[in-house]
Order: sequence, then C-alpha cells, then structure tokens
Amino acid sequence: MESLIIDCDPGVDDMVAILLAHHVANVKGIVTVSGNVPVDTTTKNALLATELLQSDTPVYQGSAQPLESEPVHSAHVHGSDGLGGVPRIEHRRRPKAKDGVDFLLEEPTPDDWIVALGPLTNVASAIRRDPSWVNRIRGISLMGGSTTVGNITPTAEFNVYADPEAAACVFESGASIQMCGLNLTHQLLITDETIKELQGIDSDLAQFVTPMLNFLLYRMEALVGRRYAAMHDPCAVLAVTHPALFNFEKQSVHVELCGTLTRGMTVCDQRTTRRREQPNVQVALEIDAETARSLVIGSLKSP
Ligand code: RIB
Ligand code: CA
Repeated sequence: MESLIIDCDPGVDDMVAILLAHHVANVKGIVTVSGNVPVDTTTKNALLATELLQSDTPVYQGSAQPLESEPVHSAHVHGSDGLGGVPRIEHRRRPKAKDGVDFLLEEPTPDDWIVALGPLTNVASAIRRDPSWVNRIRGISLMGGSTTVGNITPTAEFNVYADPEAAACVFESGASIQMCGLNLTHQLLITDETIKELQGIDSDLAQFVTPMLNFLLYRMEALVGRRYAAMHDPCAVLAVTHPALFNFEKQSVHVELCGTLTRGMTVCDQRTTRRREQPNVQVALEIDAETARSLVIGSLKSP
C-alpha cells in the first residue's frame, strides 16, 4: 500500500478523499490548512473524519492564512461548517500540539507521498523553510489548477487562487508533482444516482457522507442550475494509489501571479506548433471515472 500524508481543507470532497485514502492507502497523518473554511474549522472536520473512521491517524493544524494574500474561503459551496451542515458525532479528539508544517518537514520518508487537497500554503512553507525537503519525499499529488477553465474565476481554480504564491513556490520547487486539475476532476462526477446508490449502503460512513453530498448537489443547483458535482479531491488520492486509471502527460506548468484577470491561473504549455517549455509536472488528462467512482463508493461501505 502507498504511504500518504494528506494536506487538506475539509471541505466536502476532502472528507470523501480522507475516507477513501484510509481504505486504499496507509495514511501517516493529516495536516489542515485554511481554504474552503478557516483552519480551525478544517481541523475540526479532519478530526471528525478520524472519529468516523475510528482511526488513530494524527491530525496537525497548519497555516491559518496564505503566504502573502488575504484568506479566501468557499463556504458558499461547502457551507459555513465546511461539511454542508450535516449532523456531527460528539468526540473528544484534538489536533496534535506539533505545528502542521513542522510535521510535514519532519515526518516524511522517501516513500511518502504528500497528497495536497487544498491551498498549498503548508507545502510551500515547508519548501521555503527547507528546499531540500522535496528530495526527501516520494512526490506531491495535488488537486489544483486546470489545463482549461477555472472555477472561482474564469481562469483560476480555487486551491491555486486561494494562495497563488504558495502554488508558484510548489510548481517551481523541483518536486516530483502530479496535478489533478479541474480538466480532470470534472470527469469524476456525482449525481442524484450516486445519492440513491449511497442510500442503499448500510454503513456509518455512507450515512454521514450522503447528506453531505446531497448538500453539494443542492449548492451546485443553486449556483449553476445543475445537480451534479465534481469529486475533485479523491482524484489526487487515486492518482497515487491507482495510477493505471489515469492518462498523464508531462507539461510545463507555471502559476500566473500578476494578471488582473488571470491571477492564480495555471499556465500549462500544451502547444503542438512550437517546442514546449521544459516540463515540470505530470498533468492528469483522463481518468477511468466509472472505476474511480466504484472505488469511492466502495470505501464508504465500511471503515
Ligand atoms: O477547486 C476545487 C478544490 O477547491 C477542492 O479541493 C475543493 O475541496 C476546494 O478546496
Ligand atoms: Ca479541498
């Protein structure tokens, strides 16, 4: 089994990714970051995930705000609690005392993947403190960016837009990176059919996740008039544990920091009429969505 450290901003799809990761990989730790909601809430949600799993995976709180810009959240998608207001189970779990970035710097071995599911503030902070860190990890599998359109702006995807300086630092770091951008994650959709399938699963995990995904479909309907939603973050987990489900292409990817309309855009060199710039990222272009969806649903059948 692959060994992962998850850096995340739970967030509905982060929660699904955390549950999936515990089913298909060895999760050494969870580090939280400000993103979908503030970091105290993402930390509460990560702790809740470990309670749901009855897991002893440690949770470490990370960065409360981006490297240089003001915090950006997406409560309009995930709800103010980050999980669609679903009923919570009581527990007494607390994050470890160690800072999340310290854990990222100290814990990994060369076998460990960093699976980054939120803004890249923690990962960039680790790189800024010790650039050689990228040579002490297996690689970074991140959900972020896009080879096509954005979501929070016409050109920028939320995780990159929320901390573009951090994303630029990571993409320029020399780390071994695989990128699951919106071009990829929008191939893995949940619909009302998915909800019906989950309602037929008699497990605590499915019973927790179903109303959370229903909320996401409701928000998508309110925001863009359609009841389907991309399962973004699970893609970055499966890109590590089930790479055969993906088609990757090495591309040059850099982050726009100054554009009035394009700040936070991942500029991916896909030219076919010129020699492309030196590639630095394995960009996921296709996923076997049916198999991926089955793996996600299967991970909710029992802890
Ligand atoms: O743009 C999608 C990403 O932003 C996902 O990681 C989602 O959880 C939000 O963080
Ligand atoms: Ca996320």
